[in-house]
Formats: sequence, structure tokens, C-alpha cells
Amino acid sequence: MDPDDSEHPFDRANTMFDFRPGLRFGSVSCFFDLVDNVIPSATRFQAKREMVYSCRIQYVNVKRQSSMGRSVMFDLFRIRFVRNLLIGGFVRSNQILWSNLPRAVTNLGPMRAYGRWLNALVRRRPIRMSYFYTSFFRNRPLLELAYRLSDQKRQGSSLTISVLGCSIGAEVYSLLWTIRSRRPDLKVVVNAVDISKEALKFAQEGVYTQECSQFTDAAVLASVTKHERVELFDNEGDMFRIKPWLKEGINWRLGNAADPKLVDVMGPQDMVFANNLLCHMYSWGAERCLRNVASLVMPGGYLFVSGIDLAIRTGVARAHRLEPVTDLIEEIHNGDLTLITDWPFKYWGLEPFSIRRHDWRERYSSVFRVSGLRCHESNQETDQLVTCRKARVSGRIGIGL
Ligand SMILES: C[S@@+](CC[C@H](N)C(=O)[O-])C[C@H]1O[C@@H](n2cnc3c(N)ncnc32)[C@H](O)[C@@H]1O
Repeated sequence: MDPDDSEHPFDRANTMFDFRPGLRFGSVSCFFDLVDNVIPSATRFQAKREMVYSCRIQYVNVKRQSSMGRSVMFDLFRIRFVRNLLIGGFVRSNQILWSNLPRAVTNLGPMRAYGRWLNALVRRRPIRMSYFYTSFFRNRPLLELAYRLSDQKRQGSSLTISVLGCSIGAEVYSLLWTIRSRRPDLKVVVNAVDISKEALKFAQEGVYTQECSQFTDAAVLASVTKHERVELFDNEGDMFRIKPWLKEGINWRLGNAADPKLVDVMGPQDMVFANNLLCHMYSWGAERCLRNVASLVMPGGYLFVSGIDLAIRTGVARAHRLEPVTDLIEEIHNGDLTLITDWPFKYWGLEPFSIRRHDWRERYSSVFRVSGLRCHESNQETDQLVTCRKARVSGRIGIGL
């Protein structure tokens, strides 16, 4: 498998490394032989992809130390490679133990603290992947809050919404149905943005099946009730086609959520959704992207952002003085089971909600009100911060996540 096989527009935009095409690692293919023998086929491909990513990033980080000789570079590369294998083994063995413990035990305070430490370790591993995973009504409390906030709008007024990283459209249609079915008087316009042309095309067609699609390895319709199925779709044999009234008012846009020009194209929005895409970016990219996303929200509007490293979200919320919306805060935090159950062993896993933390409102809120001035203003500060961070990172060996 050539590392370039996994090239994807997401990788180009969200990661910050270049890779010399054609470079192969002998040790990687040995590792693949091992993987083929011990890992069931369902997870094998994923493991290989992760491995290739790990190698690419390790290699590029070492390559950044351009002042070093070539052999030193490759020695460092090997050390980091082996270190990552060891950490990976340690994390996997913990995962097996953890999954065999009763919930009552993993919920205990010391176990949670250990889980947090493990999750930090997992997130430090230099692996970030592109995923299209999505589903209809993925986080119902979050949709409910979007409806409640949109319900503050006057009769007959308009509502502009951006959904960034919309994947194959399930989030856009779920949101539109939730609002339009209860507030038919509102003129809702949605800007649905994704970096993948193929995903956007699929979303625009709006035809889904019960089975997994080429984009997601889970059924997107799994949590749609019978009533919702009738309301949202025209059934054509095995296929479910989104009803025309739900397709109205959507601008499908190919774009990068981190692009500062996005606000010029779409204008300020009443609500911006950036769910489950920032967790797949490296920390500096996620932070920069979140700042850009926040700048799309008009003063008095709302930012919905789940599926992101909590420390990054809290930091940006503070820097931009975003006000956490505490209505349904716990329900929304726990609203996407995939994020909850994947903690602590996946980097996107979400730690358990706890009001014992002094900063629980900021840390666990997925929805923020953007008040007056600052977002556009502080973009300058953003660029400076990013430059500093880049300088700091390039001064170290490896990726400082
Ligand atoms: C895991 S899916 C999340 C889909 C949906 N938001 C949800 O919550 O179900 C992430 C999506 O974000 C897109 N994406 C990743 N990076 C992006 C970027 N920088 N700009 C726009 N879209 C991006 C990917 O192509 C993918 O479709």
C-alpha cells in the first residue's frame, strides 16, 4: 500500500505536512504482515491506514529538523516509530481490560481520572483521520436546542444557517426538518459546506438506503423513527429520497471551514454548526479553524460545536468571550452516543459530563452565543498565535499535540 493511496482533500487542508510520493518503509510492510495475522479483517484496513498516517507524520516531523544529518534523521524516525508502536500496544491492552470491567467500576472517580490520562495519551498520538461518518438525528438534544433558539425569531423572519463539514447531508436535512416542521413561517436558508466534492454530491442528491453507504460504515437512517421516515422521505423501493420541500433553500458549497474568505462568500450567519469535524484536525489546525468558524456567526447568533477537543473549545470560547448556552447542556453533551462510548480509547471520545469541575459550563457546552464585536477583530490575534505556535512546534522534534 502506498501512503499516497490515502490522499484525501481533507488531509491536504487539515494537516500540515508534505510527503515525498513513492517513499516506502520496509518496517511498515513487516508490520502489515503482523497486522494481517492478528487483527480481524474488519479493522485491518483501518489499522493499516492509521499506521501509514503515523509513519508519514513521524517522517515529516523528523524531516523538519533539516539541520540534522540524514542518518540521524532516520534514527530519530525509527525511535519515534517504535515508541508509537509501544504506546499503541499499551493503549490496546488497556482497552481490552477496560471493556471487560463493569460500568460501575469505570464510573468510579479514580477510574475516570485514569481514563482522562489514557485519553490524553491517545490524543497525543500523531494520528488524525478523515471520516465522513454521520447519521440522521445524530444528536437530538442539540437539534431541539437549535429549534428552541430559532423559535425566538419573529413570525415570517429569515434565518441563515451554516453547516460546516456537512458530509452526506444527514445533519442538514435533520436540522431543516426539525425547524421547518415546527416553524413553517421562517425563511430558512442553509449554507452546507464540505471539503469533499463527492460527499457534497451525495448530499445534494439526498437519496439514502437502510444499509451503510460508500461514505459511512454505519447506517445513516438507523435512528430515524417511522413517523420521521414518512415525513422526510419519499420511499422508492430500497431507497429513501429526501422530500423536495426539505431540499429548498440549501446552498451546497465546496469549501474549507478554515478559509477566512468564507465569511465574504456567505455573509454573517444566525447559526453556525461545526460538528464532528474539528476533532479530526491537529490541535493548531482545529483551533485556527474554530476561530474562523466563530467569525462566521453574526453578533447575537449561535455557534454549535461538538466533536472537538474540549480544551481547544474552552480556550477559543474564552478568547472570543463566547457565552455558553446551558439549556440542555448535559443532554447535548451525552446526545451523541458514539462519542461517549468511544471514550477514552479514541481521540474523538468525549469525557463524562461532570458538574464538579469549576469550569463545567464552558467545558461541556456545545452551544455558544456570540455577543457583539470581537470575532472578526481577534482574527489578527489568531494569526499571530498560529505563527507563534508553528514556530514553537517546528522547534521540537515531532508533533506537539
Ligand atoms: C465526521 S463528518 C461529520 C458530519 C456531520 N457534521 C455530523 O456531525 O454528522 C466530517 C465531515 O467534515 C468534512 N471536513 C473535514 N475537514 C473539513 C474542512 N476543513 N472544511 C470543510 N469540511 C471538512 C469531511 O469531508 C466530512 O464530510
